[in-house]
Amino acid sequence: MEKPITIEPAEMDDLVEWLGQFGEQTGGGIIRHVYDDAWSAARRALMGVMSEAGLEVREDAVGNLFGRIAGESQRTVLTGSHIDTVVLGGRYDGALGVLSALAALRALKPLGKPRRSVEMVALCEEEDSRFHANFWGTRGILGKISESELTDLVDDRGVTIGEAMHRAGFPPEKLRDAKRDDLDAFVELHIEQGRILFDEHRPLGVVDTITGLYRFRVTLEGRTDHAGTTPMDLRRDALQAAAEISAEMTRIVAEAGRPAVVTNGWWDVQPGAWNIVPGLVHFSVDLRHPVEATKQRLASEIRRRGEEIAARRGIGISYEVVGDILPMDMDSSLKRELQAAAEARGVTWIPMISGAGHDSQVMATGVPTAMLFVPSVDGRSHSAAEYTSPEDAARGATVLAEALRRLAY
Ligand code: GLV
Ligand code: MN
Ligand code: MN
Repeated sequence: MEKPITIEPAEMDDLVEWLGQFGEQTGGGIIRHVYDDAWSAARRALMGVMSEAGLEVREDAVGNLFGRIAGESQRTVLTGSHIDTVVLGGRYDGALGVLSALAALRALKPLGKPRRSVEMVALCEEEDSRFHANFWGTRGILGKISESELTDLVDDRGVTIGEAMHRAGFPPEKLRDAKRDDLDAFVELHIEQGRILFDEHRPLGVVDTITGLYRFRVTLEGRTDHAGTTPMDLRRDALQAAAEISAEMTRIVAEAGRPAVVTNGWWDVQPGAWNIVPGLVHFSVDLRHPVEATKQRLASEIRRRGEEIAARRGIGISYEVVGDILPMDMDSSLKRELQAAAEARGVTWIPMISGAGHDSQVMATGVPTAMLFVPSVDGRSHSAAEYTSPEDAARGATVLAEALRRLAY
């Protein structure tokens, strides 16, 4: 047997530093949204590094970027994660999965032709931060994007996702060409984004299940009035209704206990003036639970309570569902491969549930899929404070490389 592959911390550190420059903002934090300039620049640079590593580089119709080591069989073992970020995100969410895949394939390349083909991918969109695109890259690969989304999904500036694709050099009418039928497995390495591994001083998690996600936008319509002359008892203040609904949702979900979570992270208050009673409010609801029945029960309860509160206050209410993603179990035999790879490299692992959403939960609907987690310092994520030590990153990438070797060589 060949000498085992070891990825060095310095290599991971350099890669993280390098990719983190694309979209980095002056005050800290990264904005790299699908089809924007920073995203395009990061992909171009990555293409260069992948070519230098001797990978066969190709991009698909939606902007996923692939680097391949062709094997005796066309059947492919795929690894990677997403290259887009949240608004003012960190250097690791998604990026570390792409860079670990790169480091692993660079290390595997000298081993010669594999039995099955091995490929890395930088998926184009996962975060839902510019469009409510809900895993656009992965859905492209699975052929699960509908034509109507090209015009229905619009960013804050009124640009449709179809126009954004066109501007970034991806003709939207070719959308269907992204579909693949050659994938035998998908393995995604990701930062945990929570604090279990960090608190328990564990280097690695193998994911059992990824949480389910239910997302909707709430619209409350009251009446704008003069802030000085309208008595408190005569107001139809849309913000006060929204605030009560938000507090009530939070109470219901907190009472359900861990791991149920709900977040109202985005607010739009109109007309947004100091001296006008708010007449119109939109806010977001992101509800998560790894058990589908519980997720659905909580979703109907918070929706019902919202309607009751709005009715009592004489405020109009409507909901627009923008995502309903099933919790997803990872593939058992692929999990066993990851566990065996970790054990072979002397890395202890624990089973985990992911509270964050991942491409893997959508990929798993069409391709056997499994995930590795590495520690997030202080559990910080979706923040510029995200950090994973180069040692932990390198340990994860080493296990990933070992797993790919077992799966493809
Ligand atoms: C994606 O990162 C999510 O869990 O929101
Ligand atoms: Mn991610
Ligand atoms: Mn994320």
